[in-house]
Amino acid sequence: MLIHIISAVPELLESPFAHSIMKRAAEKGLLNIHTHNLRKWAINKHGQIDDYQYGGGAGMVMMCEPLVNAIEELQQETKFDEIIYMTPDGPTFNQQMANQLSMKENLLIICGHYKGIDERVREHYITKEISIGDYVLSGGELAAAVVVDAIGRLLPGVLNDETSALTDSFQDNLLAPPVYTRPADFKGWKVPDILLQGDPKKVEDWRQEQSLLRTQTRRPDLLDKE
Ligand code: ADE
Repeated sequence: MLIHIISAVPELLESPFAHSIMKRAAEKGLLNIHTHNLRKWAINKHGQIDDYQYGGGAGMVMMCEPLVNAIEELQQETKFDEIIYMTPDGPTFNQQMANQLSMKENLLIICGHYKGIDERVREHYITKEISIGDYVLSGGELAAAVVVDAIGRLLPGVLNDETSALTDSFQDNLLAPPVYTRPADFKGWKVPDILLQGDPKKVEDWRQEQSLLRTQTRRPDLLDKE
């Protein structure tokens, strides 16, 4: 998968993809991430990419011209399946959206800053808008990192044990069951016996039951979902 990201602060995107699973995905050639500094397409030599909003009011707006020039230049090389704008007023990201996006080939993600981007770019170029939750970040970069991480780990071959993504929380609208590792007794706090008995069928049934119990008590809303 190829992901291009346009940002006014691309430095914010360096660390999230440089370690651990995302790093391995890149090394294996499964996930190719290119970040672009929007200032490369600034309208003048001062690096201007934003301006005051029409109608007055606090906060700058990211201008059409740099964004459109950036998008169109990248489109010359790549046909994007989606052009995504990270914004708190988009639909809220969830596992199902991650699953769907992980099946695409080429994505372009735009990170907003300040008051956001000129509405005309949204109308004419953006094909999907994503919020990562009902709160406002100072820019779309951390949100983009969240989305790329959630997608990247689903790509076939990225996780060592491919079944582990299938048993994540939210796959099948259930939370994951509790997990334990050694020692079996820590300060008198014991691992459930069933996990130590070596009967895979019983373990599987216990995990199913725990998943359901957790979901019922912590996130009953998930059980009403399609
Ligand atoms: N940009 C600012 N806040 C955001 C959010 N909650 N989700 C996505 N992009 C954002």
